[in-house]
Amino acid sequence: MAVVLAGTAPLAGQTTLRQAAAVRAIPIGAAASADEYGSSDLLKNPAYANLLSSQYSMLEPGNAMKWDVTQPTQTTFNFQPGDELVAFAQANGMRVRGHNLCWHTQFPSWLAPYAARATPAQMATLLENHITAEVSHFKGQVFAWDVVNEAFNDPSGSAVPGLRDSIWYDQPGIGQSGTGYIEQAFRWAHAADPNALLFYNDYSIEGPGAKFTAVYNMVQDFVQRGVPIHGVGFEMHLMTNGYPSAAGLAQNMQQLAALGLQVHITEMDVRLPVDSNGNASAANLQAQAQVYQTIMTVCLQQPNCTAFQVWGVSYADSWIPGFFPGYGAALPFDKNDQPTAAFNALVTAMQTTAPMLNANYVVNAAGYQGGAVAPGEIVTIYGANYGPANLVDYQLDASGKFSTSLAGVEVLFDGVPAPLVYALAGQVSAIVPFGVAGKQQTAVQYQYNPGNGAVASNTATMPVTAAAPAIFAFDATGSGPGAILNVDYKVNGASNPVAAGGVIQVFGTGGGAIVGGATDGALAPGAAALATQPVTATIGGVAAFVGYAGAAPGLVNGAMQVNLTIPPGLAPGPQPVVITVGTAASQKGITVAVK
Ligand code: XIL
Repeated sequence: MAVVLAGTAPLAGQTTLRQAAAVRAIPIGAAASADEYGSSDLLKNPAYANLLSSQYSMLEPGNAMKWDVTQPTQTTFNFQPGDELVAFAQANGMRVRGHNLCWHTQFPSWLAPYAARATPAQMATLLENHITAEVSHFKGQVFAWDVVNEAFNDPSGSAVPGLRDSIWYDQPGIGQSGTGYIEQAFRWAHAADPNALLFYNDYSIEGPGAKFTAVYNMVQDFVQRGVPIHGVGFEMHLMTNGYPSAAGLAQNMQQLAALGLQVHITEMDVRLPVDSNGNASAANLQAQAQVYQTIMTVCLQQPNCTAFQVWGVSYADSWIPGFFPGYGAALPFDKNDQPTAAFNALVTAMQTTAPMLNANYVVNAAGYQGGAVAPGEIVTIYGANYGPANLVDYQLDASGKFSTSLAGVEVLFDGVPAPLVYALAGQVSAIVPFGVAGKQQTAVQYQYNPGNGAVASNTATMPVTAAAPAIFAFDATGSGPGAILNVDYKVNGASNPVAAGGVIQVFGTGGGAIVGGATDGALAPGAAALATQPVTATIGGVAAFVGYAGAAPGLVNGAMQVNLTIPPGLAPGPQPVVITVGTAASQKGITVAVK
């Protein structure tokens, strides 16, 4: 009977890595193979395909997008294995990382002899054509590329290591000095797919040290000079020797965050000594699990750690036994596709690491400005990375009010639960309780499934202000045509402009307290003025008569409606609208169409 249970069946009913990651708003990936070397196609192996698609929400071709596969001769490209992996990913709702475009090894057999005779100009043409062809081919399908891989030497002592010799750098190189060839590769990749995220990827840069410093210096220079780079890949091929420490890893991520760069953990495995059957000791497997748990926990605690990937689907396709003789057992699934202690550790990290709440990521839902919050302001909170995997819209409770609990999410202001507009892991919209009025500051906390695990966020203290107005954009981008109705209740816009003297209804939030008070989460029963005065407005820079400024009858309390009269003398077309409540003005860039 045990034979019947082979494959993925024993995992039925158990949380998958993919499910655990989905509620943390982070993709979890694995290196994957198709038939790139003409051997059997792993994607056609049902057990492999099932494990890959059920456990992971992202894949990266372990080899299929490298030079030896993609440019088999100088004049031909082969993207078929990569296409197969992309098609598999798309069929299974998975993202694809591309790997890699420029490396010192894994060449097609013609390339090294060619480079030995080529001029730098010829090498530059070759690299440009390759990057352009490959990135163009996968444009829109690969969300992030490792553009350049492993370009730095390993450190000897504390000296900052230099660049590794390679056909692209100096043998003969593409005719650029220093990191110029790397910069050039990023520029070519960006030109071919301006929407792809571009990464520099390397190993032994996970903790502080000379090699991280070398990479940091390069990417800092790139950022300062506007070279298109979006992140650094930490390969994370580890052992159980304590490198990197949690604090060291967090420090490196924070240094890159300060440059505005993301970090992807791209190739994690933790190799263990194994016996001739490929088995590791129970103690080592336990130590390995701790390493996985630590790395995942740090990633979830650092806002710029935006992807987590392991290098292989299970022991059966891991590169470790082939490259590190005597080692193996490096991944969260064993050679029979069974979850290991490392699997449990990853799930535990994802289920128990507290979500983050960062006051800088609490912004007005209409204008996206941060800073102080106002009573009744509809805010969007980004980065609270534990919540429902799919967006859950507001719900009315038994008393007809917006519910303060949505799919397990709650947002508390001084302990008072806020009405919620929608909830999604990493992006939640809440209405600041009116009770913050008159306070200097408010303590904000985010919770997911309170009482069902240790998942309350830290508490973030935010200043309170009387009003923080903003106007909703019609397309929710925060600028452009506003959420504005003409007097006939039709949406204002280029095809429905309003004439001078016409009255418009402008919708926003952040107007602050309401005269007579407002019940949190209730629909506004009728007209009621903003408490903070005066309310003034300009359209096209000209003062506009404010006929009404207050609650938006029929919409949830916290939505603001302002009725304005179009002043005479404006040029036809979009004209900027600004509403000022007390001393606080709405964002620039919202327009009304005037005729
Ligand atoms: C490895 C693959 O897993 C092997 O199949 C291949 O033979 C050699 O390359 N760093 C990287 C990866 O960036 O591309 C490497 O992948 C592992 C080390």
